[in-house]
Amino acid sequence: MRVPFIAGNWKMFKTQAEAAAFAEEFKTLYKGTDVQTAVCAPFTDLKLLVDAFRGTGIMVGAQNVHFAENGAYTGEISVSMLEEIGVDFCIVGHSERRQYFGETDETVNLKLKKLFEGSIRPILCVGESLEERDAGQASAIVSRQLASGLDGIGADDIRRLVIAYEPVWAIGTGRTATPEQAEEMCAFIRNTLIEMYDEDTADEVIIQYGGSVKPANATEIMNMDEIDGALVGGASLKAADFMEIIDF
Ligand code: PGA
Repeated sequence: MRVPFIAGNWKMFKTQAEAAAFAEEFKTLYKGTDVQTAVCAPFTDLKLLVDAFRGTGIMVGAQNVHFAENGAYTGEISVSMLEEIGVDFCIVGHSERRQYFGETDETVNLKLKKLFEGSIRPILCVGESLEERDAGQASAIVSRQLASGLDGIGADDIRRLVIAYEPVWAIGTGRTATPEQAEEMCAFIRNTLIEMYDEDTADEVIIQYGGSVKPANATEIMNMDEIDGALVGGASLKAADFMEIIDF
């Protein structure tokens, strides 16, 4: 029932000229597939990508958003601003934002609530650090991130949620979680959603794995029962590599 969903996360890479070149190349490679596909890009590239991908089925996402409607928040971007551009998704709570920009479970919660008022679907990132994993706390951390991040959000909204399990130790390190480790955590996330909501609701949530996904390991990751998709950083920057992952 759940359609696989693979999203690229460009992070702070690609000027508009580079994004345009990617879009041109990617459109020649992309023949339409059963896999939902999105590229999450810097704010400055979003309009260009929405225009370039119109009519192709390729979707576009932002990597962050503010939780207020508008206001004196220098440097921030609102949900309405993203909606006006025609963005489909927005990453919330990426570990780099938690680590470097003071993102907390509380701000994640506010951002999710604001996004759920409109049409943009959030991709909520959760995951433990290496220290936390070694201390046997991986599930406790993820469970806390889900409980606080989703606090007060109802089942109807949750059905539109995408969750990316991204162990911090596997991001940009070349050290991928084994398919079994990823599978175990994605199953744990689904079970947590069953406890928080109900089975039908939890069944509709797309759960991605993220952390050093590349053409060479995409098949084994995507073939795991509990993993519905991937959030791809480094390997989404090259059109050919990203296409190979989507074609897993
Ligand atoms: P990576 O990044 O694929 O480069 O490890 C994944 C992410 O941070 O979303």
